[in-house]
Amino acid sequence: TPKQDLAGVKVFITAGGTHEAIDPVRFIGNHSTGRFGVEIAKQLQERGAKVTLLSANINENLLPASIEIIATPSANEMYQAVMELAPQYQIGVFAAAVADFRPETQAEMKVKKTGGEEETLTLKLVKNPDILASAVRRFPHLTTIGFAAETGNPTQVASYGREKAIRKQADLLALNQVGQGIGFGNVDTMLSILDKTGETLTSFSGSKPVIAKELSALIAATYQSKNHS
Ligand code: C5P
Repeated sequence: TPKQDLAGVKVFITAGGTHEAIDPVRFIGNHSTGRFGVEIAKQLQERGAKVTLLSANINENLLPASIEIIATPSANEMYQAVMELAPQYQIGVFAAAVADFRPETQAEMKVKKTGGEEETLTLKLVKNPDILASAVRRFPHLTTIGFAAETGNPTQVASYGREKAIRKQADLLALNQVGQGIGFGNVDTMLSILDKTGETLTSFSGSKPVIAKELSALIAATYQSKNHS
């Protein structure tokens, strides 16, 4: 077992992908499985943390019995849960893929097609709250880490990452390049870790479990330096 540098420290982790309802049977979603968030949750628990996982539609089979789970299927539900929990927690890990937009209204009944070949359907989408950015603003005591998965060439990815780190102001931002078969699923990956000024602190590469372990050590160290200085 790793050293218990998070003994008794309360941590919440958002993970999975949100579903934004269109009607009672349909939603807008994304391909996030939540696997990496679950891995980080386990690693933080190994260091003694009391972990709560805010699960956006993570498959039951991926959820360890040892971790407290709160179901937060949509962005608004996740936002509410984070705002309620944050005052009692010391660390927030924001690993969920949160939809940027949701349908402006949710139909009470199934949306029906009318049948014409030329028929089109227009959905109006409105902005979801930025959960991470709001939590950083409202809860300065919280040690926060955000994630950014960006596409493009390495130079573009680095510049999107810097911009996001500065805009969201999380203590740590873990940046990785995705697309063209990299970054998704059970493959080796690389993470650059930026601070809130956009500077690169370090980088990790390897399998997701290995990276989750290194990341957890860094989260613990960041928590320690934020609270004992
Ligand atoms: O803006 P983007 O989705 O790339 O930002 C990624 C980071 O912000 C992730 O840590 C994600 O969990 C968090 N986020 C959030 N609420 C949103 C959008 C993103 O907490 N509405």
